[in-house]
Amino acid sequence: MHADIVVLPGDGIGPEVTAAAVEALQAVESAYGHRFSFNEHLIGGAAIDATGEALPQSTLDACRTADAVLLGAVGGPKWSDPKASVRPEQGLLALRKGLGLYANLRPVKPHPAALGASPIKPHLLNGVDLVVVRELTGGIYFGRKQRASDSASDLCEYSVSEVERVVRRAGQLARQRRGHLTSVDKANVLETSRLWREVATRVVADEFPDITLEHQLVDSMAMHLLSRPREYDVIVTENMFGDILTDEASMLAGSMGLLPSASLGDGKPGVYEPIHGSAPDIAGRGIANPVAAILSAAMLLRHSLGLDDEADCVEQAVSQALDSGAFTADIQGSGAAIGTRAATAAVLENLQVRCYAVCMRD
Ligand code: NAD
Ligand code: IPM
Ligand code: MN
Repeated sequence: MHADIVVLPGDGIGPEVTAAAVEALQAVESAYGHRFSFNEHLIGGAAIDATGEALPQSTLDACRTADAVLLGAVGGPKWSDPKASVRPEQGLLALRKGLGLYANLRPVKPHPAALGASPIKPHLLNGVDLVVVRELTGGIYFGRKQRASDSASDLCEYSVSEVERVVRRAGQLARQRRGHLTSVDKANVLETSRLWREVATRVVADEFPDITLEHQLVDSMAMHLLSRPREYDVIVTENMFGDILTDEASMLAGSMGLLPSASLGDGKPGVYEPIHGSAPDIAGRGIANPVAAILSAAMLLRHSLGLDDEADCVEQAVSQALDSGAFTADIQGSGAAIGTRAATAAVLENLQVRCYAVCMRD
């Protein structure tokens, strides 16, 4: 198949980890005989430096016509002045909004070989396999912002249709998995959460009678996520709660460097990116974990290109590399950690062997 993939490396470790993900896609391309074109564009701080804008129109236009978008990360201290008129993060938000990517899928499945990297006791982690569906284009992120000399406000707003479509997406996913959906809100305090709970209850009752729905308040959910993570299947929640809970959930897997994501709309190109940021504390040192980016590429193959076998192949190659102890410093701690290049090479080696084995079989 032919696919036009836009690559947005961004800032900090973004370019380091997207390079690894592109290599994984190229390995799939040659093994399976696909033709992928990779077109790089600017976003974030890199785009601000070059053009003054965090999301140049040319980048958004290229993404709109692409089959899929692979993104690294944006942001960093250089552009973090609170008084700055333009910020890298605005580019990412504008991209999500501009492409209508309202559902952000963040799977969390700790790898047995990396359990030692988690601060959580291993017996709580065995069998954990959950997906957070984070609403991505509404809520407090996108409400009216105001600043006066002695006050500031961010409006949190949700419409019925915004809640319906993301709950529907989560319901479909739950149906394909273990049939359990947890909706997370703060309905004891927030009006938007009371709307959220009402709509979630109705959508599941009307359209998904075969799945079970449970409501959780976000504060206790933050606790349950660590104390009984195995009980969750699909978790659906609003934009900011989903942002915070998934960074927390990364500690189940052991590192931010392990968690991928897919941002999806209705039939538009998806954006695939790690859940982590630009990691300014380790940028430029060649030690970032490329796994989250490589697994994001696997999600791209599956969700935007419909290449399920190829996606499985990439995920298995990552799994095998972790099994063999190919650990970057975020997993290994101090000691015999390997760098981004070596970790990528370990995945690619397995990928080539696996892909060709599958192709020969077929
Ligand atoms: P971060 O996710 O960049 O880093 C948090 C911690 O995790 C750091 O210690 C970092 O070294 C570590 N880490 C993250 N990814 C790693 C990887 N692949 N391998 C090894 N270690 C990894 O969060 P932050 O420091 O709070 O934010 C830094 C910048 O990134 C900010 O400007 C923020 O706005 C931005 N950010 C961007 C995105 C995005 O582009 N999607 C996501 C989150 C944060
Ligand atoms: C993420 C990030 C972004 C978010 C920032 C950089 C705007 O933290 O993708 O998780 O809050 O959505
Ligand atoms: Mn985040």
